[in-house]
Amino acid sequence: GAAQPVIVAIDGPSGTGKSSTSKAVAAQLGLSYLDTGAQYRAITWWMVNNGIDTDDPSAIAAVAGKPEIVSGTDPASPTITVDGVDVAGPIREQDVTSKVSAVSAVPEVRARITELQRSIAASAVTGIVVEGRDIGTTVLPDADLKIFLTASPEARAARRSGELKGADVNATREALAKRDAADSSRKTSPLAKAGDAVEVDTTDLTLPQVIECVVTLVEEKRAGK
Ligand code: DC
Repeated sequence: GAAQPVIVAIDGPSGTGKSSTSKAVAAQLGLSYLDTGAQYRAITWWMVNNGIDTDDPSAIAAVAGKPEIVSGTDPASPTITVDGVDVAGPIREQDVTSKVSAVSAVPEVRARITELQRSIAASAVTGIVVEGRDIGTTVLPDADLKIFLTASPEARAARRSGELKGADVNATREALAKRDAADSSRKTSPLAKAGDAVEVDTTDLTLPQVIECVVTLVEEKRAGK
């Protein structure tokens, strides 16, 4: 019969190559792809755009159900819209990046986005690679394979400032450290490695090596099914 859909959870802090790896693995294996950070960024963008005070958790909670967020899951061209507006560009801007940890710490926001993520994963025909912070621990605890990507703070800052073209490495490292601390210490489903996740330290690996490592792990899982 047809193969069972395979669910892969890839978690870790930013600057570990999570997005590039997840997209490439999904494309290579013919799976869907979901960037859950983009969903938290999208709801944050909506809050900012609608004048919601992002330092006020109760104000955020009160409107958490309002924006309609739609994610396109083709790894070759992932998309994200809020109320029909393409926000792929604006969600990467500094203003959203600096506020996303506060917005994503609000339990009502997490409940809403988590439900959306589970329904997207459940409807993926061949399977899906879902990347985020709490996928293996909270969103998809029954995933077939859980990966936790890490890298030294220096490597992560260097990669991020390379992506941001010309950004100062020290400032980037500080901003990353601040966001990681907030994401790891929040009460509701913090950034954490699941007990049954495979940890991959990417500090001394190239992107193709990380991709190959994860593809091999997925294929081994599939063969063992
Ligand atoms: O992966 P990213 O940098 O685009 O994620 C942006 C923020 O979204 C991150 O700082 C924390 C939050 N996030 C989260 O709380 N849970 C997830 N599963 C993914 C992202």
